[in-house]
Amino acid sequence: MAPIRLILLACVLWVPFVLGQYTSYNYGFNVVRRVRRDIDATRPLVVRGGGGGDIQVRQEIRELEQDQDLWTLYILGLSMLQFTDQSSPTSWYSITGIHGIPHQTWGGVRPTPGNEETGYCTHSSILFPTWHRPYLVLYEQVLYNIIQVIATWWPEGDLRGRYQEAALRFRIPYWDWAANPSSGQSVLPLSVGGVPWVDVDGPSGVQRIENPLFSYSFRPLNSTAFLQAPWNYWTTTLRSPASNDTNAQSNNSLVALNFDQSLSSLSQRLYILFSNYDNYSLFSNNAWIPLLNNVSYDSLESLHDTVHNLAGGGGLGQPNAQGGHMSYIPYSAFDPIFFLHHCMVDRIFTMWQALYPDTWVVPQPAALPSYTTSRGQVQDSTTPLTPFFASRDGTFWTSDTVRDHTRFGYTYGELTSPGGPNSSRKSRAQIRKAINRLYGTSSPANLFLRETRARTVDTGSRTTTAERRRGVEENGWPSSPKQSSNLASISVPRILNGAVFVRNRYREWITNIRVKKQAMDGPFSIHLFIGTVPDNPEDWILAPSHVGTVGVFAASDDGVNYRMSMSQLEVSSTIPLTTSLVKKVMLGELSSLEPRDVEPYLRRNIQKRILSVSGKVLDTSRIRDLRIHIVSSVVHAPATEEELPSWGRVEEHFELN
Ligand SMILES: *[C@@H]1O[C@H](CO)[C@@H](O)[C@H](O)[C@H]1NC(C)=O
Ligand SMILES: *[C@@H]1O[C@H](CO)[C@@H](O)[C@H](O)[C@H]1NC(C)=O
Ligand SMILES: *[C@@H]1O[C@H](CO)[C@@H](O)[C@H](O)[C@H]1NC(C)=O
Ligand SMILES: *[C@@H]1O[C@H](CO)[C@@H](O)[C@H](O)[C@H]1NC(C)=O
Ligand SMILES: *[C@@H]1O[C@H](CO)[C@@H](O)[C@H](O)[C@H]1NC(C)=O
Ligand SMILES: *[C@@H]1O[C@H](CO)[C@@H](O)[C@H](O)[C@H]1NC(C)=O
Repeated sequence: MAPIRLILLACVLWVPFVLGQYTSYNYGFNVVRRVRRDIDATRPLVVRGGGGGDIQVRQEIRELEQDQDLWTLYILGLSMLQFTDQSSPTSWYSITGIHGIPHQTWGGVRPTPGNEETGYCTHSSILFPTWHRPYLVLYEQVLYNIIQVIATWWPEGDLRGRYQEAALRFRIPYWDWAANPSSGQSVLPLSVGGVPWVDVDGPSGVQRIENPLFSYSFRPLNSTAFLQAPWNYWTTTLRSPASNDTNAQSNNSLVALNFDQSLSSLSQRLYILFSNYDNYSLFSNNAWIPLLNNVSYDSLESLHDTVHNLAGGGGLGQPNAQGGHMSYIPYSAFDPIFFLHHCMVDRIFTMWQALYPDTWVVPQPAALPSYTTSRGQVQDSTTPLTPFFASRDGTFWTSDTVRDHTRFGYTYGELTSPGGPNSSRKSRAQIRKAINRLYGTSSPANLFLRETRARTVDTGSRTTTAERRRGVEENGWPSSPKQSSNLASISVPRILNGAVFVRNRYREWITNIRVKKQAMDGPFSIHLFIGTVPDNPEDWILAPSHVGTVGVFAASDDGVNYRMSMSQLEVSSTIPLTTSLVKKVMLGELSSLEPRDVEPYLRRNIQKRILSVSGKVLDTSRIRDLRIHIVSSVVHAPATEEELPSWGRVEEHFELN
């Protein structure tokens, strides 16, 4: 499947273009004045969400694309937001600028002394999931309001009615980077990574405009606020640029390739987060707190970090590369893929909240400063999530007040019953079922489920190994492009009887990784292999031995204070090994998943490599405080799709030196 994907992408993506060649939609009148009057009147802007109280579903971006009227409005709305004067508080520039650079005040919310050179965003913090929720809502609200106005610009009559009706349903889409895309498609949607223009059928007919999902062009770039090269000369956001040249361009086909190769690792991590993380303190953020635990190394934030680094690119398959905007915290929000990604993060958060409703924000000192928080200041569930106003009198949203996301007028498909978005919420069993179907495909738990179901269906009639093998392949196991090579020696019965499963139990293997966030001068990635590592890093991600990568989302140049705090901080993450090990069992290279077999096998075969964002292989012994432990846990496979695997105690095996 991988080669087909690549060819498709290469054909569509290899189109030379000149930056700045495309513009915004021409409605035939002065849009700026009309929009200013219509939507820019209230200050402070109170964050309420789109649509007064009505709850609508946030859709996956590919699903939204099928909804033609709404898609047209979405593209026109995004484009208008990006072409709004950067000095307006509701411009793309000002809203995305809340996150990091240009370190400017928004809505009159001043920085606390000493924190002027940071953004408002909270990272490695107990507030990571909750701060980003009203941030998304603010963005959704501004876009919603623009879209309502645009819908009125169709000529009076049926058509206008149709667009106005669609506009009311608008909610921002998410991008699911962990689910298997339809066959032949890349994880990276073509609408986002395809071409820098888009043909849109707006109120004045079809026009070719700048694709607002492809990049954001600064109009103008403030090279004083963008402190260093290449940020102070790149006039548009870039993904996986091949160099730091002024005329560098995005390489979205490389980004797509990296996501496709990482799919199995990302979905395993997400599945494990849903199954095995029931404590908000550990689930929420990547700060590693010494002595508290050596079990829960992953987190929603760590998984999110890896996606940032994959989207920004840099290093992953290019010599002399340079990370794009998404790889750097202070610049990441300008790239249009940022909000698609963060909407996915919020969706994971809501689903997780539904599964574990009783665990929540507890007081914890901030590991990093933000614009209004000093390092070490205790943050709790009532800490103001600045600069997001909850009312005109100047109070802010807090984690407690944003806990129920439906108050902002949105929800996600997995959380609603088929009766409609506003009817009763789906039970937890239904959510678990969705998780099994979307993210369980790489897990042995899923293999077990399918086999159990197959056995109950064809009681009596014996299925042959060949039939079973075919079933296994059709059922998507092993599922990722990386896993789909030679399955000649699969023996499903052997897998089910001892090699992987002992009755309903099997063992999950994981690498726990801990490292100083600022161990290098900027973002870097850690790669694990089982077997031979190709000499050329450009070949790593396609190598059959490549198991996974984690990205460390760092900063390089955003102020001394922030940087110093970062240098103190240790973050943790994981790379799951189970899918790769099961494949080794299937290929006969490994006898079982038991420690007596796996431990010596891994000691012989597992290897680590570190790649800087500029594509250089780094001497791992020079990375300060990098600790990689191999751990495992006995897991009970679920008996039905409405359950998730249940994890036992995590055992430590050895440290990878
Ligand atoms: C550019 O950035 C600098 C430094 O942040 C700021 O002082 C200046 O006002 C900005 N210029 C514009 C036109 O926004
Ligand atoms: C994008 O990256 C791929 C993979 O490294 C490479 O083959 C291709 O030449 C690059 N495309 C451009 C336009 O640089
Ligand atoms: C959650 O984890 C934190 C940090 O390890 C711990 O202090 C707290 O007691 C845990 N909460 C529960 C309910 O287990
Ligand atoms: C640009 O990249 C080259 C090659 O990696 C490096 O030597 C140079 O320092 C970089 N320049 C800037 C301004 O980052
Ligand atoms: C939908 O839910 C909202 C918020 O709970 C409520 O105000 C509204 O009346 C509901 N609409 C319908 C049609 O039930
Ligand atoms: C951490 O792992 C070590 C080694 O396996 C173990 O002895 C220790 O009890 C663990 N600590 C905690 C807090 O779980």
